[in-house]
Amino acid sequence: MDFPLFFLDHIGNRMLMALVAIVHVLINHPFAVGAYPIVVLLEWWALRKGLPALDALARKITFLLFLITTTLGALTGVGIWLTAALIAPFGIGSLLRVFFSAWAFEWIIFIIEVILIVFYYVTWDKLTGVRKKWHVALGAALAAFSWITMAVITAILGFMMNPGQWVSDVVTPQVDLLGAILNPIYLPQLAFRTSYSMVTGGLMVLFMLSLFTKKDSDLRAVTLRRVSLWILAWIPFVALGALWYWRVVPEFMKQNVSVALLSMKFSQWHGQFLWIVAGFAVSLVLVSVWGTVSPRRVPTVFLLVSFFMGLWILGHFERAREFVRKPYIIPGYMYANGIRVNEMPIFQRDGLLTYATYARHRTVTEENKIEAGEDIFLLACSRCHTSTGLNGVVNKFNALYGDQWDPTALKTFIRTMHTARPYMPPFPGSAKEAEALAAFLVDLKARPRTIHGAQSAGVSIPQIEGKENKDFPSPLGRGQGEGSEQLKEGN
Ligand code: HEC
Repeated sequence: MDFPLFFLDHIGNRMLMALVAIVHVLINHPFAVGAYPIVVLLEWWALRKGLPALDALARKITFLLFLITTTLGALTGVGIWLTAALIAPFGIGSLLRVFFSAWAFEWIIFIIEVILIVFYYVTWDKLTGVRKKWHVALGAALAAFSWITMAVITAILGFMMNPGQWVSDVVTPQVDLLGAILNPIYLPQLAFRTSYSMVTGGLMVLFMLSLFTKKDSDLRAVTLRRVSLWILAWIPFVALGALWYWRVVPEFMKQNVSVALLSMKFSQWHGQFLWIVAGFAVSLVLVSVWGTVSPRRVPTVFLLVSFFMGLWILGHFERAREFVRKPYIIPGYMYANGIRVNEMPIFQRDGLLTYATYARHRTVTEENKIEAGEDIFLLACSRCHTSTGLNGVVNKFNALYGDQWDPTALKTFIRTMHTARPYMPPFPGSAKEAEALAAFLVDLKARPRTIHGAQSAGVSIPQIEGKENKDFPSPLGRGQGEGSEQLKEGN
């Protein structure tokens, strides 16, 4: 936890990450991994059967894929890195230590993928005649590279759910790349992601058909039948992949699922929610059956809606996967707030502030309680909670205790929060620090305010006893507010 903390109050670090990551997946799976192979198949088929209109359609779809994957897709992909490095530097640092060469490989594959995307599109009209089959081969290579980028990242995502043997020695886990890649979740998750990408890729092409072709045209009928068949062919693999995946999800994560899907407030609806998902899945199957049997009769609106249903399921799947991992970034090794599992007892014994580099105080006193509590909030809770915004901590306590908060009850809750709510890590501090956090929260409720992260408030380094303040200038000073007061007074 030795990094200055970036904190985006109101929206929350969690939502920031979720937005970037989910947008990325919604582009990567249907547009890159799923749609490129279909477009290449359509092109190949147009070549074999001599259907120039189908070739032109495949080219049109490719243009859109090209635009979206190289802009929003690439930006959000790199954006995940930037966001994760800001909000969970410790987590990404630990992952890098293990997956360094995998990530280096990923960058190379990604660059090749982008080059192939550009070439595939710009050579469409150039590699013609006898050279057309080279163009199809270029597309096939592109589809393969798109899949490989996903396959590498899935290893890391699986690891973040169950690192398997890797954590057997929690003190100094071995940097065993192969062991980490072959974590128990990897292959099941890859099977599910691959097949579902192919399905959503198909739905995306159906969506494009609704935009680019006329309802009664032969072109639409012919393409719709092929793509519907493609979707139907993958659906059994999605079902098998999902079952296989579910079987390897660790038990403690399964218990998080109802809250993961709908948040605590609506978690009792999770049965109904699953019915909606099932309903969507069944309607996707029905649309594809219809598209196969009688493509001319499928109403355009079905093609549009199916795509959005497919995306909705994918988005929820990502959200739930991110949630069920809680309270960990790497199960058994590191909690979501960047505190390592084996550091926890030390922090609970000696105090979190004792070891925090970027905090205003080392020890809690009656005078500095509220400031110290704010620093503890930033260190221990701010990965997941805001002040009064999304998942705001004040509202959470309001829901528990109503308008009258008793600081002692708050303190007791804080010290045992992980037992009642296992998706939260244990409180990583001493009893005195729990008291300070409670005091800060009571104050925050009385005077709701924005909590500033290091990016706007600067950082402070606690003074060492007996030294003058000027010997320890804080690089930025913790803002112009109370923090800098504290620095002047000394503590
Ligand atoms: C790993 C993420 C995470 C961390 C770290 C975390 N929480 Fe939570 N907390 C959650 C989630 C998720 C919920 C449930 C949100 C929902 O669905 O309503 C929650 C719920 C709560 C609730 C309501 C519990 C209830 O039973 O109604 C309180 C109070 C709370 N958190 C306080 C804290 C405090 C204080 C800290 C820091 C010491 C903290 N949390 C750290 C994720 C976290």
